[in-house]
Amino acid sequence: MRLTPEQLAQFDRDGYLFFPGLFNPDETRVLTDAVPDLYARREAYNVREKGSEAVRTNFAAHMYSEPFARLGRHPRMIEPVQDLFGGEQLYMHQFKINGKMAFEGDVWQWHQDYGTWKNDDMMPTERAMNVAIFLDDVNEFNGPLMFIPGSHKKGVIDAKHDLTTTSYPLWTVDHDLITQLVARAGGKNGGIVSPQGPAGSMILFHSCLVHASTSNLSPWNRVSVYLSLCAVSNHVRRFKRPEYIAHRDFTPIECLPDDCLVKPYPVDLPWKNGMPGSALVTSSEPIADTKKAA
Ligand code: SIN
Ligand code: MN
Repeated sequence: MRLTPEQLAQFDRDGYLFFPGLFNPDETRVLTDAVPDLYARREAYNVREKGSEAVRTNFAAHMYSEPFARLGRHPRMIEPVQDLFGGEQLYMHQFKINGKMAFEGDVWQWHQDYGTWKNDDMMPTERAMNVAIFLDDVNEFNGPLMFIPGSHKKGVIDAKHDLTTTSYPLWTVDHDLITQLVARAGGKNGGIVSPQGPAGSMILFHSCLVHASTSNLSPWNRVSVYLSLCAVSNHVRRFKRPEYIAHRDFTPIECLPDDCLVKPYPVDLPWKNGMPGSALVTSSEPIADTKKAA
C-alpha cells in the first residue's frame, strides 16, 4: 500500500494518518484470537498494570507468535512507512500489544516516543515511525490514543523520566508545554484529536508526535498493536534495555504478500521456545559494532 502525495502532505502537517477499517474482520480475528494465550504467559515480556494481573503491554510477539510475525511483515503497515522515509529499508525497533483492558487499563502520560528511544536506546535521529492497529473497536470511552496535531514539528522535547505513575517507565512531557502545544494546535477546536473506529483500523504516527491516553473505565477492552519501525541507517547505538523491549537485529524487514494474515506463509519464530538469556543482558555503554549485533 503506497501513500498519495496528498497523504504525504497531510502527514507532514498533522504528524499522523488514520485508515479506518483497513484490515477486515477475518484478518483482525486471526490476531485477536492469539492474544489471550500470549497474555496468560508468566514471562518478562508481559508487563502487567500496577497492582493488577491485567497485561498493560506484551512485547516482541512477532518473535514467538505466528500471526503477529506475519503482521510484522505486512505490506499495508511497512510500505507506507517506507514511503515516508523516501524508500529506505526498515527494521523492527519495538513490537507491542497494549492491553488497556476493560476497567483496568491505566493511563499513558503525555510523551513522545522518540524521547525514550533517544534517551534510553541512543537512536540517532527521529527517523522511526509508529504504526498502530486496533484489535478492538476504539471509542471515546475505552481510552483512545490522543494526539496534539502538528506537535511533531516541535522536534525533540525535554522530558522527565517518570518511574512511578504507572508500571512502565516513560519519558513524559511537562504539563505547561502540553497546554501551549494544545493552544497552538487550535485549543478546543482541534488542539487534541483521538482517532476512533472499528477493529482493524490503522494509524501511522510520527515518533515526535506528542500523545497520551486516559485510563479505561469502560467495560470494553482496547487492545492495540504497535509496530515501531526504524530506518536501518538510524539503528540504536546502545542496548540499555532488554532485547524484548528494544530490538538488536537491524536486518531489513521483507514484506509478505497482502493476504498474509489469512494464508499460512511460513515465518521465522526465533523465540518460539523461549527467549535467549542474551536478550536480558543490558549495558549502559554504546555498542562497539554498529552493524547487526546480538
Ligand atoms: C504508547 O504511547 O506507547 C501507548 C499508548 C496507548 O496504548 O494508549
Ligand atoms: Mn507512545
